Amino acid sequence: MQSIIFVCLGNICRSPLAEGVAVKIAQERNLALKIDSAGTGDWHIGEPPCDGSIKVAKMHGIEITHLRARQFTKEDIERFDLIVVLDESNRVHVKSLGAKNIEKLGCFGYECRDVPDPYFFDGFDGFLEVYKMIEICVNELFSVKFCKAFL
Ligand code: 4NP
Repeated sequence: MQSIIFVCLGNICRSPLAEGVAVKIAQERNLALKIDSAGTGDWHIGEPPCDGSIKVAKMHGIEITHLRARQFTKEDIERFDLIVVLDESNRVHVKSLGAKNIEKLGCFGYECRDVPDPYFFDGFDGFLEVYKMIEICVNELFSVKFCKAFL
């Protein structure tokens, strides 16, 4: 089974949202994929996703409250076919651990932009924007990387 892990900084806002969106899209497309997420930092290990991510996911029929933050490890490089980072600092971090199989989510339909970190936003509107970007980019990523014809 092909596998993919989304990596951000805290694994409480962006990457668990990307994980939830990816699970939904994989189900819709009938793709058998192992999907996970992790953070480069260790501040939030064991915590559920942030309130804004839980809320915006719920608004789109996606449940992510059960997810718990964990830190990305060297072992993840071997365990996953594809490491998808949410911003450039995440790329630098996983690259420093030796990863080669890295893509940046924003390069799939958003001009290679970083997914902005809603943890530092004021209010909820930023989460709506981040959700939209993640949904568009995960759809495009799956079309490019996990098109059924290639599986
Ligand atoms: P995330 O957001 O990387 O999208 O999960 C953050 C969450 C927490 C922190 C930074 C980013 N933090 O510094 O605690």
